Amino acid sequence: MDVRTGFTVLFCIIGFTCARKVQFKDCGSTTGKVDSVDIDPCDSTPCQLHKGKSYTVNVTFSSSVDSKTSTAVVHGIIAGVPVPFPVPIEDGCKSGIQCPIQKQITYHYATELPVKSEYPSIKVVVKWELRDDDKHDLFCILFPVEVVN
Ligand SMILES: *[C@@H]1O[C@H](CO)[C@@H](O)[C@H](O)[C@H]1NC(C)=O
Repeated sequence: MDVRTGFTVLFCIIGFTCARKVQFKDCGSTTGKVDSVDIDPCDSTPCQLHKGKSYTVNVTFSSSVDSKTSTAVVHGIIAGVPVPFPVPIEDGCKSGIQCPIQKQITYHYATELPVKSEYPSIKVVVKWELRDDDKHDLFCILFPVEVVN
């Protein structure tokens, strides 16, 4: 653990809210490349998402294409089956990305993930895609979360 990570961990233990870099799997980003994913607040692995709270999902990626639009498509994979998961804002261009998207530029896509109280308490793998004009994935990532009371 380097000094910076040490301080971050300490900061979280003391009880400040902090973002955590999330371990993710790439599920076929074709027109972009993901650099990092973080969820705020999150202080465990996998991140525990409390019902009734809202979280920020922040994906840092670079694009290899120009695209006027970007659209988020989110699923929760429950028992192997992808279930569509509505996010309040599907438009990536309204989620921290300055559109049009340009080649070779790094973007921070950041959006709210509200966790409704009617969700079941389960561990779920989230599949988050951001599609370009041609419906290709600028990114496609998988990361585990745990919905808790
Ligand atoms: C997203 O994460 C990046 C890199 O960790 C950071 O520079 C940026 O400020 C974050 N954006 C938001 C909205 O949290």
